[in-house]
Amino acid sequence: MSSVRVAATEEFSFTISEIASDKSISHRSVMFAMLAEGESRIENFLRAEDTMNSLEIVKNLGAEVEDDGEVIKIASDGIKESFEVLDCGNSGTGMRLFCGLLSSANGHFVLTGDKYLRSRPMKRVTAPLIQIGAKLDGRQDGNFAPLSIRGASLRAFDYKSTIASAQVKSCMILAALRADGICSYTEPELSRDHTERMLQGMGADIRVDGLTTTIVPMQKPLSPLSIRVPADPSSAFFFAVAAAITPNASVVLKDVTLNPTRIEAFKVLEHMGADISYEITDNKYEPIGDIYVSYAPLHSVVVSENIAWLIDELPALSIAMATAKGESVVKNAEELRVKESDRIATVVEGLRACGIEVDEYKDGYKIVGGELHSAKVDSDGDHRIAMSFIIAGLRCGMEVSDLECINTSFPNFFELLEKITKVEFS
Ligand code: S3P
Repeated sequence: MSSVRVAATEEFSFTISEIASDKSISHRSVMFAMLAEGESRIENFLRAEDTMNSLEIVKNLGAEVEDDGEVIKIASDGIKESFEVLDCGNSGTGMRLFCGLLSSANGHFVLTGDKYLRSRPMKRVTAPLIQIGAKLDGRQDGNFAPLSIRGASLRAFDYKSTIASAQVKSCMILAALRADGICSYTEPELSRDHTERMLQGMGADIRVDGLTTTIVPMQKPLSPLSIRVPADPSSAFFFAVAAAITPNASVVLKDVTLNPTRIEAFKVLEHMGADISYEITDNKYEPIGDIYVSYAPLHSVVVSENIAWLIDELPALSIAMATAKGESVVKNAEELRVKESDRIATVVEGLRACGIEVDEYKDGYKIVGGELHSAKVDSDGDHRIAMSFIIAGLRCGMEVSDLECINTSFPNFFELLEKITKVEFS
């Protein structure tokens, strides 16, 4: 399955209950279980490459894991030195959060990943960790994996981050839980807050006041986690865009996390004219529910705020922008350049191949809405670029290559896509 041809489609109406489970919450659930006394219980864990790598790492760190394919039970009596090199695969979340978790653990650990992850910047976590006493190193002065960690005692800190990154914030919160005093972490804009919500739910003393999080180190192990992982809004969003760009189409996306720090892209799509509503059906750790999306003609939009809340959805959102009336602009999104690919470059290149006029900026792009044309687009090994251009194909037909990456986050993507269009692999 190295490339796929998708056909243009016409109106569809589709309820999706099998959207991939949330990646951020799945990673965190297995990691946080290592901080608890007693057995944590995780249902609906994302069984995709990135998160299965985190589960494997947790096993290598000595956790007892029972997995019947439905429920994962994890018990741990503390992090143990691993015989294996810890392989995070393609996952920045995995690597950056494990840095926080392991920097105070007893022993020596090596974290690595695939060729894409080994090229992504790690100094954003290694530098603040080293400042508080962690013993970490990696290529180019600790910026690139493989990273080595020798667990050490960590000093309390008040850290002001210059980037709105939930990965950096979560890494530092995990470090703070074992530091020698009360710590605070301030970010420039609120990033996704699953770590705070889940750890608070497990009994950690974490207080959030605006952009500052105060963390009291753990005096004893936390209570076990018991969670059913909701569907991932970033995965659901591909089908939201599919409905929003296909005349007379509609979808219902079931059991998605409705955490406000995660659904901003839906709000933008709504602002562009799509008909979107939300129904909360549950609230454990965070609100969960269904999202209803129906087609309506789209108009352009400027996206320059709350970027951290829609950073993962920007590639798919740019497909909607390409079909909208008028010029859409994305600004303040330089972080896109250090994702699984340089997503400013890959979005711009892909849209130009589809005949759309695009201007590239250092921190975003301008898209002149028009008619998407069938093209051949390579994903550059980036799952969200692959799925975004496949969805663009629903409008005009598309060939997309380098597809293995889709397994990192959404293994059943094609099964769902086949319900709305013809898909041919070669
Ligand atoms: C994630 C945070 C975001 C996001 C990534 C998952 C997380 O990254 O892009 O896909 O689970 O914490 P940054 O925090 O680095 O922006």
